[in-house]
Amino acid sequence: MSPAKEKILVIGASGQIGVELTQALRKIYGNANVVASDLREENDLLKGTGPYVSLDVMNKEMLHVQVIRQNITQVYLLAAILSATGEKNPGLAWHLNMQGLLNVLDIARDEKLQKVYWPSSIAVFGPTSPKENCPQQTIIEPITVYGISKYAGEFWCNYFHRRFRVDIRSIRYPGLISYKSSPGGGTTDYAIEIFQEALENKKYSCCLQKDTYLPMMYMPDAIRATIELMEAPASSVSVRTSYNVSAMSFSPEEIGAEIKKHIPEFRMSYAPDYRQEIANSWPKSIDDSVARSDWGWKPEYNLEKMTLDMLANLQS
Ligand code: NAD
Ligand code: SER
Repeated sequence: MSPAKEKILVIGASGQIGVELTQALRKIYGNANVVASDLREENDLLKGTGPYVSLDVMNKEMLHVQVIRQNITQVYLLAAILSATGEKNPGLAWHLNMQGLLNVLDIARDEKLQKVYWPSSIAVFGPTSPKENCPQQTIIEPITVYGISKYAGEFWCNYFHRRFRVDIRSIRYPGLISYKSSPGGGTTDYAIEIFQEALENKKYSCCLQKDTYLPMMYMPDAIRATIELMEAPASSVSVRTSYNVSAMSFSPEEIGAEIKKHIPEFRMSYAPDYRQEIANSWPKSIDDSVARSDWGWKPEYNLEKMTLDMLANLQS
């Protein structure tokens, strides 16, 4: 189907990824053809740029009505509870992350949607997964409810593709860094707060130890990866669970040093909390060679380039 004929529903459009993904999709498919939806009110950055509906992904009937009424052909499902918030209410995180996905998958099958996008996470990996260059297929024993829900979700996606031919595609995002919309409660969110604190207060107390390496990615790369995967011919998409993608890995000490190059007075301290155990269970770096060879994935931003861009945008 040509871009003009697609009608896209973004669920969770007011969140950290949703705002930027909706903006990017509207550029490609046209403002009127990308319907933003969320439980929360519409994000200010999206106001006046296209249609918005208030929607609870847990209300399957209402979701189904919207898909039919709006002639939706593709769904991007972003509504979820992330790793750190999930540990505070595991039952709720499991319920939303699983039932939300199952609702969308059932409707995608029944309405024969063209494509569905649903993100997984590096949180599927656990302490027994390889720490360095963690491969696409490996031992996966997550310790957080978020990781468990993402891993189970990956297999539901694979099942719906194999059994009902639903064209669902997925990426295991690393920690995502951005300045447009606030993050929603992840373990990697320190790498966003650090920029805001460095600019406002010239100091930052980090919830992770200084040498905790984690895989990270700048939002423009994440948005591009998402769209490139969704636009790839189905024959190039060999992974129907979720793709590893990678851009950079750094520790709090390293990102602090990079920021200090631009703000010399910046000081960091460390007060690890419950998020340290979560971070310790994840790989330090990711092998994304399958995404590179299947659909040509290649990141553009490293720590240096991202830091420059984040500071410039937050200052302006
Ligand atoms: P976020 O918390 O910023 O946004 C999620 C949005 O979903 C929020 O606006 C929230 O109001 C909405 N929502 C919650 N419950 C809902 C419901 N019942 N119905 C409709 N909307 C609801 O999250 P995000 O960072 O934008 O993440 C989006 C997706 O990407 C999630 O699946 C997340 O697991 C995944 N992901 C994010 C990261 C990251 O670093 N941000 C990394 C890996 C994976
Ligand atoms: N950034 C996410 C988190 O920390 C990874 O999925 O929860």
